Amino acid sequence: MNHRVLFTWIFVHCVASLLYSIHGENAVPEGENDELNKLSENKVLDRSIKYNMRKSLDLDQEGCYLQTGKKECLEKCSFNATAKTIFIIHGWTMSGMFENWMHKLVSAVMQRENEANVVVVDWLSRSQQLYPDAVNHTLGVGLDIANMLNWLQEELQLPLQNVHLIGYSLGAHVAGYAGTHVQGTVGRITGLDPAGPMFEGVEEEKRLSPDDADFVDVLHTYTREALGVSIGIQQPIGDIDIYPNGGDIQPGCALADVLSLTGNFMDVLKCEHERSVHLFVDSLMNKDHMSFAYQCTGPDRFKKGICLSCRKNRCNNIGYNARKMRKRRNTKMYLKTRADTPFGGYHYQMKMHVFNRKHSDHADPIFNVKLYGANNDTTNLLVDVQDGKIGLNLTNTFLVFTEDDIGDLLKIRLVWEGEADSLGSFWKYFKSSLWSQKTKPILAVRRIRVKAGETQKKFAFCAEDLSKIEISPGESKTFVKCPDGWDVKPRKRVPM
Ligand SMILES: *[C@@H]1O[C@H](CO)[C@@H](O)[C@H](O)[C@H]1NC(C)=O
Ligand SMILES: *[C@@H]1O[C@H](CO)[C@@H](O)[C@H](O)[C@H]1NC(C)=O
Ligand SMILES: *[C@@H]1O[C@H](CO)[C@@H](O)[C@H](O)[C@H]1NC(C)=O
Ligand SMILES: *[C@@H]1O[C@H](CO)[C@@H](O)[C@H](O)[C@H]1NC(C)=O
Repeated sequence: MNHRVLFTWIFVHCVASLLYSIHGENAVPEGENDELNKLSENKVLDRSIKYNMRKSLDLDQEGCYLQTGKKECLEKCSFNATAKTIFIIHGWTMSGMFENWMHKLVSAVMQRENEANVVVVDWLSRSQQLYPDAVNHTLGVGLDIANMLNWLQEELQLPLQNVHLIGYSLGAHVAGYAGTHVQGTVGRITGLDPAGPMFEGVEEEKRLSPDDADFVDVLHTYTREALGVSIGIQQPIGDIDIYPNGGDIQPGCALADVLSLTGNFMDVLKCEHERSVHLFVDSLMNKDHMSFAYQCTGPDRFKKGICLSCRKNRCNNIGYNARKMRKRRNTKMYLKTRADTPFGGYHYQMKMHVFNRKHSDHADPIFNVKLYGANNDTTNLLVDVQDGKIGLNLTNTFLVFTEDDIGDLLKIRLVWEGEADSLGSFWKYFKSSLWSQKTKPILAVRRIRVKAGETQKKFAFCAEDLSKIEISPGESKTFVKCPDGWDVKPRKRVPM
């Protein structure tokens, strides 16, 4: 076990034992009917839930508070009923204080939407409890928010379509309850790594679901499972469900990476869960550098590069810039990201037919590619073959991700890792040292077809010298624009 796995395991174990010792496996929030009755009697006046409307980017300023039924607060806060209204809802907390991400998210939202009513829903007193108790409060807090929205509708004719609820972790399910119980339909709910424990696999009414708003988008960043539980919910629960980096292992979240950056151990535990917030903040701040996600049935097919299509709305921006699509449910989408902001990178699908020319039936080649672009070149990138092996006499498809914009692709160098590169693997070393001139494995690659995910452009690259298409361990071949044409099957570009 590496350290990250170990500590995650400990953390999850704590959460899990907390859950199971108190509630048993099929725990369900109690008291739902009580809360519903209270709402119908219109008596929910729980002042422990606060609606802090942010007025200034200076986060030390307290802002002002909205209270259901108190009209004077609306004026005092200069609530603008024709502008967007964005509620930010935190999750379970151990400290009983706002965490750093909250400040980042609030200021990013305010900078992007400077006329919007930005309201932080403060339910700290109810969330700073044992996890199962905090879960038990999500319905009540959701109802309270629904109540607030109903009042705003009555008082100011607030159009619910302009309301966007953003919930992190447990807060995502709070937003779900608010959306279920409000009179009408809110415009949008964004779930940032919605909590998994006690929500995975439960009925739609008891968690965030596509019916809770006109558009429900979800970012899943910490779905790795330990002991049958994951901190973030694994199943798709929105209209679109985006799984950056497969939804589990986030780059930059390894123990050493985080400790060297912040020196704080808690940050290691939170890194992947909180990544959802930082990706969302990134989407608010970096409007010119949007990240795209691509619809795919699963992470393995995505990693093979099969799913880079934008046809029929199969791709979308992530985070705040996500476009509402014709109503669909639980559409899983994937992308790779960088380890830090700006998180967006560039995806390429590559297809090449690898011919087995000689002695290669068991050669098990390892390929690298280097991409040369108009602006910059990449380093040697390992061709990550999802099935573990390059298929011989077959067309192989794989995904290449670059962090930098290299500009239009000009040429590709394909490298078959030779002896010098495979010292890590004794068997490969042993095998390759046996290769004499007579038994040297020889493969051949004639063309590499490329599709760029971000631009949807397709290109074909041919061996520089078409009479020399053979490659052996330790050698490289360069592929340039094919003489018979640069673009392949030019297609209408999909407007982003
Ligand atoms: C859940 O909340 C209700 C009130 O909302 C309370 O009566 C009940 O005891 C709580 N259950 C647990 C396990 O805390
Ligand atoms: C209220 O918001 C609308 C829409 O964003 C804007 O046009 C209007 O100027 C705002 N009113 C005030 C008083 O800020
Ligand atoms: C690939 O084709 C070559 C020549 O047609 C043949 O010799 C070889 O056995 C085939 N290899 C595999 C793995 O199918
Ligand atoms: C090219 O990439 C290298 C490393 O990835 C980077 O240091 C350099 O600044 C880039 N150059 C340009 C012109 O973008």
